[in-house]
Amino acid sequence: MGMADGRVVLVTGAGGGIGRAAAGLFAEEGAAHVALADRDEATANDTADLVRASGAGASVHVFDVTDEQSVAAFVDRVVADQGRIDSAFNNAGISHPSVPFHELAREAWDEMLEVNLTSVFLCMKHEIRQMLDTGTAGAIVNTSSGAGVVPAPGQPHYTAAKHAVLGLTRCAASEYVKSGIRCNSILPGMVDTPMLTGGTGVLGERAAALLARVSPTGELLQPAQIAAVAVWLCSDSADAVNGQAIVADGGGIMR
Ligand SMILES: NC(=O)c1ccc[n+]([C@@H]2O[C@H](COP(=O)([O-])OP(=O)(O)OC[C@H]3O[C@@H](n4cnc5c(N)ncnc54)[C@H](O)[C@@H]3O)[C@@H](O)[C@H]2O)c1
Repeated sequence: MGMADGRVVLVTGAGGGIGRAAAGLFAEEGAAHVALADRDEATANDTADLVRASGAGASVHVFDVTDEQSVAAFVDRVVADQGRIDSAFNNAGISHPSVPFHELAREAWDEMLEVNLTSVFLCMKHEIRQMLDTGTAGAIVNTSSGAGVVPAPGQPHYTAAKHAVLGLTRCAASEYVKSGIRCNSILPGMVDTPMLTGGTGVLGERAAALLARVSPTGELLQPAQIAAVAVWLCSDSADAVNGQAIVADGGGIMR
C-alpha cells in the first residue's frame, strides 16, 4: 500500500529539483496520475518520463504559474481528464541574487512576489474551487522556505513572499477545514537543486557561506528529503495535520 495510492496529483515547478523529486515519489507511492506544470517543457518532459517509469500516468502542462487563465485552464483540464484532484503540490518558485534591502529594485520585488506568492494564491484558488465542485477532500501543500520563518539577508522580497505563503496556507486551511480540505506548507532548508547550484552541484561563494551558517552538517539537503515530506503531508497518514508549517531543514533553524 503506497502513500499516494490511486491519487490524482498536481505538481507545479515539476521540472525542477524539488518538484521533480516529489512527482517521482508520488508515482512510486502509487499515484494514478501526476499532472506536471512548469514553464520549461524539456525539463517537465524529463519528469514525465520518470513518473511513467514508476507506472503512473503523467501529463505535461507548459505555462507560467503567474497567469490566472492558464492556472485555471490547467486545473480544469486535469479534472476534465481525471475526474478530480486529490493532492496538489504548489512548488514553482524563483530566486534572485542577493542585494542590500535599500538597493532592491521595484521590478525585482514585483517579479518575486508574483512568482513566489501570487502563483500560490492562484493555484490554491482554482484547486479548491475544483475540490469543492467535485466533493473531494483533497490535500494541498505549498512550498515556502526556511526564509518563511527566519530572514534571508539580501532577500527581502524572497523572505516576504515565503512568510506570506504561510499566512495564505493557514487562511485556506481555516476556511475549508469543514470541507475536509487540508492545506499545509513545507519550509525547506538549503537543497541541492538547479535553483541553488545552477545544475552544477557547486555553490557560489555567498551560498556556501550561508550553508556554513545554517546547515548543522555542512551538507546541502537532497530534493528527495523534501519530496518525502510533501508526499506524506498529502497522504492519509497526515490527516491530523492541517494549517501547519513544517520546517524540513535538518535542524538548521535550531542552531
Ligand atoms: N533549493 C533550495 O535550497 C530551496 C530552499 C527553500 C525553498 N525552496 C523552494 O522550493 C521550490 C522549488 O525550488 P527548487 O529548488 O526545486 O528550484 P528549481 O529552480 O530547481 O525548480 C523550480 C521550477 O519552477 C519552475 N518555475 C519557475 N517559475 C515558474 C513560473 N513562473 N511558471 C511555471 N514554472 C516556473 C522552473 O522552471 C523550475 O523547473 C521553490 O518554491 C523554492 O523557492 C528551495
